[in-house]
Amino acid sequence: MSAVAGGEGAGAGPAGPAPILSAIDHVAIAVHDLDAAVAHYRTTYGAELAHRERVESDGVEEALIAVGTSYVQLVCPTRPDSPVARFLEKRGEGLHHVGFRVEDCAAALRQVIDSGGKAIDQVPRPGSRGTTVAFIHPQGGLGTLIELVQE
Ligand code: CO
Repeated sequence: MSAVAGGEGAGAGPAGPAPILSAIDHVAIAVHDLDAAVAHYRTTYGAELAHRERVESDGVEEALIAVGTSYVQLVCPTRPDSPVARFLEKRGEGLHHVGFRVEDCAAALRQVIDSGGKAIDQVPRPGSRGTTVAFIHPQGGLGTLIELVQE
């Protein structure tokens, strides 16, 4: 059982790009009712609210539930034309994106683009909690919206 510790052959090999993902920062879940979602995590898992913030530029209000050194990020639309509102309309509540912690968002974004990834943000932008973020399109990315998060 040494696939992880083995090193050789476990990764992309010497020709592969440098590892840029240092941790899972958050798993984001789109919800219709933020208060109800926060209450669900408290009453079901005993998990407490760590941070709540309205991000006008994205048309969302988000609540961060601390889980170890990562978060569950509950996201709720604040207006009908926000991307999260359209997501909820099409797919209902559920997993929206995964946020990975990176050391340097600009460098990580450049590497993803150079590796053929389809970036939504061509340059990093401010996220919540004073972070710097960039989103990578789910198309060509195993159907998963990815957020690169620099603290
Ligand atoms: Co996020």
